[in-house]
Amino acid sequence: METLIPIINRLQEVFLTLGAEIIQLPQIIVVGSQSSGKSSVLESLVGRDFLPRGSGIVTRRPLVLQLVNVPSLEERRKEDNGNGAKQNPQNTYPGIKAEEWGTFLHCKNQIFTDFNEIRKEIEEETDRSTNNKGISPEPIYLKIYFPNVLSLTLVDLPGITKVPVGDQPEDIETQVQEMILSYISNPNSIILCVSPANSDLATSDALKLAREVDADGRRTLLVVSKLDLMDAGTDALEVLLGRVIPVRLGIIGVVNRSQHDLNTQKSLTDSCKDEQAFLQRHYPSLASRCGSRYLARTLSRLLMHHIRDCLPELKTRVTVLTAQYQSRLNSYGQPVEDHSATLLQIVTKFATDYCNTIEGTARHIQTSELCGGARICY
Ligand code: GDP
Ligand code: NA
Ligand code: MG
Repeated sequence: METLIPIINRLQEVFLTLGAEIIQLPQIIVVGSQSSGKSSVLESLVGRDFLPRGSGIVTRRPLVLQLVNVPSLEERRKEDNGNGAKQNPQNTYPGIKAEEWGTFLHCKNQIFTDFNEIRKEIEEETDRSTNNKGISPEPIYLKIYFPNVLSLTLVDLPGITKVPVGDQPEDIETQVQEMILSYISNPNSIILCVSPANSDLATSDALKLAREVDADGRRTLLVVSKLDLMDAGTDALEVLLGRVIPVRLGIIGVVNRSQHDLNTQKSLTDSCKDEQAFLQRHYPSLASRCGSRYLARTLSRLLMHHIRDCLPELKTRVTVLTAQYQSRLNSYGQPVEDHSATLLQIVTKFATDYCNTIEGTARHIQTSELCGGARICY
């Protein structure tokens, strides 16, 4: 996985240079009832603390989170050295002295290097456009820049809720459902249903909604959260084995941080360790197929399969492009003096390299053991 990310990112870059975004990675959409643990699941996938979480309705606007791959700080420093940022068009992020940072569409020029500040800004921006627990379909757009990350979009959504509170409208349930449907009906999305283990799966509103747009379950994955909160004497074994409701892409049990853990600022790393220990103790036979790490790996695998399926078509398009450029290039004759011809030469070279990279990637996907860290993309 680690070696694949740079290749995929390089593919994306080259295609952007050619003026087209070719591999459209599926968006990952989290769906579930209020306080089922959606924001917590998303955070553990990204591997950073930056989302508002808590009991009650916390997520009140869609959050469209785009992960952006950037060179590491050291690489960016090297690029700047001697050249000065101005002469170096390679360095798209001159002057940013952080390894990772975030920006919002609604305040473009502000760079957030402290992830607690990102959370605060999400809360404040939510409050600016809604009042007293109201919800709004207007998304907040956040980009987080990481070195060595798969450029990917994840969407956090308000939870499904039945009874209006505060200034919520009478039809809050319908409003939230429509909001969710507008995201998950995109055929190029992966629906991550989050249902808590301490409530009946048969009544899962998330699964019900997912079925509406993905009847045969080709892009729905079920996350069973709160395994630690089940009544004494009960467990989720039957659910996790798919004997209650089968889910084609898989059912993955997780233990996120509790409200107490959040209050005492337990780290994601510690939470991940404790989760593993919990799974070993309570679900030894399933421990290797549960947990946040396994969820991240499963999503990586789904994305890689998606990319693999896109490659033959991509290769055809690049071959056509290359042929077009080549023939235009030939029409200039020799010697090449015209600047546009030189440019074409470069693009043609790019496209040829690109074809080779595609083949390399295809081979790589066939042979590599796909695995990630606790994060989806690392
Ligand atoms: P959301 O409303 O679906 O986004 O859920 P949040 O991620 O905001 O979590 C809601 C509350 O449930 C928070 O207080 C979390 O600490 C808690 N929570 C989420 N997942 C778990 C879990 O697996 N175990 C426990 N004990 N608490 C959890
Ligand atoms: Na909540
Ligand atoms: Mg939430």
